[in-house]
Amino acid sequence: MNETMQLPTEPNLPDVSSWNQEHLLGLESLSADEIRLILDTAKAFKESESGWRKISTALAGKTVINLFFENSTRTRTSFEIAAKRLSADVVNFSSSTSSLKKGETILDTARVIEAMGSDFIVCRHMCPGSSAYLSNQVHSAVLNAGDGAHEHPTQGLLDIFTMREHKKRIEGLKVVILGDILHSRVARSNIWGLTKLGARVVVCGPKTLIPDTLHRLGVEVRYDLDEAIQGADVINLLRIQLERQQKNLFPSIREYRIMYGVNQARLNQAKSDVLIMHPGPVNRGVEISNDVADGPNSVITKQVTNGVMIRMAALYLLNTVRERMGKTNRMCD
Ligand code: CP
Repeated sequence: MNETMQLPTEPNLPDVSSWNQEHLLGLESLSADEIRLILDTAKAFKESESGWRKISTALAGKTVINLFFENSTRTRTSFEIAAKRLSADVVNFSSSTSSLKKGETILDTARVIEAMGSDFIVCRHMCPGSSAYLSNQVHSAVLNAGDGAHEHPTQGLLDIFTMREHKKRIEGLKVVILGDILHSRVARSNIWGLTKLGARVVVCGPKTLIPDTLHRLGVEVRYDLDEAIQGADVINLLRIQLERQQKNLFPSIREYRIMYGVNQARLNQAKSDVLIMHPGPVNRGVEISNDVADGPNSVITKQVTNGVMIRMAALYLLNTVRERMGKTNRMCD
C-alpha cells in the first residue's frame, strides 16, 4: 500500500439508539431531541478526519434512488454525494425521460423502482404530502426532498446546522425569514425546526406573500424590513418563486427590490455579525444584491457544503432503524 495514503476513519458518532423514525418527511413531526440528534450526527460527519473522502461503509450494499419530479441542483446532487460517502449505490431518476410521460403514476413509478431493489427513496414532487403518501405504500425509507409548498426538511436542517455552527446556539437567536413565505417549503421547515429549538422567528415580506394563519406557528409577522432586521442574528432570504405565482402578488420586481431586497445599505442597519443565508437558487439583483450575496456576512456556499453532512446524517439514522427492524429491500425478501 502507498504509505502516504490514509485509511478512512469512522466518525465519532453520537449515541443514535433513541432514533426511531423510519422516514424523514418533515420537521413538524420531529421532536427537538430528534432534530438535535440529526444536527449532532451531521457535525460528527463534518468533523471526521477523513473529510471529503468516502468516510463510512454504513450504507454499503444499500441503494438510494433520487426520485425527482421537479428540477434541483443542490438537493439532488448533495443527496447523491452523501449516499456515496456512506458507500451506497445511487440511481438518479429523471421524470422528463421516464414512463411518467406515458401516463404512469407516481406510485407505480416508485413501485417499479423499488422492485429493482431500492432501500431509500429521496422524493421531490410538486404535490404537498407526496412523500408521506409514498411512505405508506413502499418498503423503502422515504426522505422528503421538497413537497410543493409544504416542507423541505433537509434544507431546514442544513440551515439550522449552519446557524448553530456560526452562532454556537439556536435558543434565543432572532432569525428573520424574508420574502415569499406563501410558496416556501423552506420557510415552513425552518419555522418548525427553529421554534422547537427555542429561536425567536420573525417572518417578513409583502402581505400578499405571508399567509394569514402563520402566527399560529409561533412566529412574529412584520411587513417592514428595516424594522424586522433590527437586532437580527440571522436573515434567511427566500427566492421569489415566480414559477409558482398564479397572479401578481406584488406590483413589480423593481418595487419588491426596493421594499424587501437586501443590499449593503440595508445591511449596514443590521448587527455587524448578522448571518446572510439563502437556500438557493438566488435571484441576484432581486431579493439580494451581488455585494451582499458574496460579502463577508454571507454563508450561502457554507449552507451548500453542510447540506452534504445533513443528508449523510439523515440516511445514516434511517438506516439504523431499518437494520434494527431487519428491513431489507424487496429483492432480498
Ligand atoms: N435549496 C434547494 O432546494 O435547491 P435545489 O432546488 O437546487 O435543490
